[in-house]
Amino acid sequence: MDLFEFQAKQLFQKYGVPVSLGEVATTPAEAKAVAERIGGVTVVKAQVKIGGRGKAGGVKVAKTPEDVQAAADAILGMDIKGHTVHRVLVDPGAQIDQEYYVSYLLDRANRTFLAMASYEGGMEIEQLAVERPDALAKVPVDPLTGVDEAKAREITAAGKFPAEVADKVADVLVRLWDAFVGSDATLVEVNPLAKVASGDVLALDGKVTLDDNANFRQPGNADLVDVASADPLEQKAEEKHLNYVKLDGEVGIIGNGAGLVMSTLDVVAYAGEKHGGVKPANFLDIGGGASAEVMANGLDIILNDPAVRSVFVNVFGGITACDAVANGIVGALDLLGGEASKPLVVRLDGNNVIEGRRILTERAHPLVTLVDTMDAAADKAAELANAGK
Ligand SMILES: Nc1ncnc2c1ncn2[C@@H]1O[C@H](COP(=O)(O)OP(=O)(O)OP(=O)(O)O)[C@@H](O)[C@H]1O
Ligand SMILES: [Mg+2]
Repeated sequence: MDLFEFQAKQLFQKYGVPVSLGEVATTPAEAKAVAERIGGVTVVKAQVKIGGRGKAGGVKVAKTPEDVQAAADAILGMDIKGHTVHRVLVDPGAQIDQEYYVSYLLDRANRTFLAMASYEGGMEIEQLAVERPDALAKVPVDPLTGVDEAKAREITAAGKFPAEVADKVADVLVRLWDAFVGSDATLVEVNPLAKVASGDVLALDGKVTLDDNANFRQPGNADLVDVASADPLEQKAEEKHLNYVKLDGEVGIIGNGAGLVMSTLDVVAYAGEKHGGVKPANFLDIGGGASAEVMANGLDIILNDPAVRSVFVNVFGGITACDAVANGIVGALDLLGGEASKPLVVRLDGNNVIEGRRILTERAHPLVTLVDTMDAAADKAAELANAGK
């Protein structure tokens, strides 16, 4: 999960990283009130989870509360690279002497963590990285030893920070590492880390990506979710602990095991080429134990997707045998009753398949078509989706 700038800076603050942080507003009037509380020059900043806000006109300096109101009016509702601005952050204005860049990230290719730092930060950092890569220091960080004062010194030296700020930047680097580890982040980035007129060093911007796999030990993460922008079906699936990703096609997909579901998406997309170009509507892996309840939860989500015209249930019985899955499907259809209104193509194979197929054949549910092979089932599901268009 990516955080908004204001959330990132709240996290930094918790770990003692010095930040410039005002308050969030959702209307121009609220923004004006915040500016009155802060006093002096402020900066109105679009809160969207995408880079390049400044260049898109989403960051404006304002001298008076009236200016803040006008700036917020211009920025709220703005579209920045497909992201609509629903809130602005009104920050105290900093008098910037110099802008630096620092970040930590998970370096997957080298199986380690990486610190990046540059004395020359700011909005042109991407260009700097391309044109003068040596000006952007990259220092591997051993996860077991992390960043202590000595390591932080190594990073400031590599980033060519002059002696007069090296202490302060090193101190920020140690605290930022604690924030990175403590929040189970895969990225923390400060651009700019600014040296201001008082000589202090402050994070004026923050970008954080948290590792969702650590949610179980980060109970606070639930409060950081941007409910307003979340896909309602994905949200419901998350509440039911289902592995669901919404896609933009018409054939609902349920399978057991991520690999099988991935290949099901492929065969459906391929079959769809012969049937009006229909495509998979989602990814849904119900995992090993496909009980009636899990099957019902999965079907409930897929059948509530208005784009879905047919559903392909593709299950390979392993530890959970096909008869249990068949009972799960029958049970789910009974649970859903009249809500189940779209055709289901079911392909069962593997452990105890004969009994599984017998259960479905015997039940003869009018919406269910049993097909023996994966390719033929994909073809049937695509055909039904196309017919339902
Ligand atoms: N509180 C502040 N006071 C003074 N100037 C600021 C303040 N916040 C930001 N700025 C200026 O605005 C520039 C852009 O701000 P910021 O880094 O937050 O947005 P951005 O870099 O365009 O967005 P992103 O990081 O999403 O690409 C900064 O480099 C800095 O010069
Ligand atoms: Mg920035």
